[in-house]
Amino acid sequence: MRTLTGLQPSGKQHLGNYFGAMRPAVELQESGEAFYFIADYHAMTSTHDPGELRENVRDLAIDFLACGLDPEKAVFWRQSDVPEVNELAWILSTVCPMGLLERCHSYKDKVARGIAPSHALFAYPVLMAADILLFDSNEVPVGDDQKQHLEVTRDLVIKMNERYGEGTLVMPEPIIREAVAKVPGLDGQKMSKSYNNTLPIFGEEKPLRKMVMKIVTDSTPVEDPKPVEGSVILQLYKLLASDADYQAMVADHQAGGTGYGDFKKRLWEAYWEFFAPMRARRAEIAADPASVDQVLAAGAARARQEAAVVLDRVRATVGLR
Ligand code: ADP
Ligand code: TRP
Repeated sequence: MRTLTGLQPSGKQHLGNYFGAMRPAVELQESGEAFYFIADYHAMTSTHDPGELRENVRDLAIDFLACGLDPEKAVFWRQSDVPEVNELAWILSTVCPMGLLERCHSYKDKVARGIAPSHALFAYPVLMAADILLFDSNEVPVGDDQKQHLEVTRDLVIKMNERYGEGTLVMPEPIIREAVAKVPGLDGQKMSKSYNNTLPIFGEEKPLRKMVMKIVTDSTPVEDPKPVEGSVILQLYKLLASDADYQAMVADHQAGGTGYGDFKKRLWEAYWEFFAPMRARRAEIAADPASVDQVLAAGAARARQEAAVVLDRVRATVGLR
């Protein structure tokens, strides 16, 4: 069983990314073959600043390693270190009907958010399909926003196998992480870089503390009971504190007599403590940038070996050899 997923290097990782994507990926590396890559070609659909792209890739690699990705267990590489993926993307695009891409809502959503409507942005799902199919992946864990891209991938497998014969490409199964509750942002909407409401997992103590203390709350007086339903503080605390501490905070909400400032302070402490071991690990890794390059280079070498097998098979099948 081979599990593959890609992460876009698009700025500071936040609690939503950690609980929604990074932690599940780290858990999955314990069972079966885990293939994880940093989708830097994809990031170029929205970033054209070379310095920023490089820095985002490096940050994501360090963050992921600090959060428990184990290069002994998972194959971890940078997408552009395996450029063969572009060849498969081209081959797939020759059987990809325009209508399939025209129906994709992520293209329209991104254009509506101000991202330039380039050919790459339009063809993004084809490259993503190539990422998956180049490794004969069986399972692809993604957030539910990527569901449609997996459907495109599966359609392309059907098209290729119909035209060139069963077994040309392996049909992947999406593992949609609907089970992971959406982590709320500081304003109560879904936590997302696009909403500017994130709590980063790494950063300087003072500004992070300030962010927690600025979480929007209602104006219930200190002595009154506070609403439990829909409380951002409680939802975040649940992820970060022990069950007993969480239950105690719920009880204190219901009893009244405790102000939001106190709850935020407890949330801050739980958050700072939760990420303490990862922060320490991050500092170690960041102090040794060569080790990160080594991990990515070894991962790329391993990934290229696997990719060569599939690409050879596809090239022979379609008549390129
Ligand atoms: P952002 O919305 O900040 O741009 P991305 O769309 O790049 O984040 O998400 C990267 C990964 O993190 C995806 O797998 C996504 O499902 C997960 N993720 C992002 N935000 C959240 C959230 N608030 N709750 C749960 N998972 C999230
Ligand atoms: N499109 C994904 C995202 O924005 C990232 C990604 C690129 C990916 N290629 C992939 C995810 C292949 C899974 C499999 O989150």
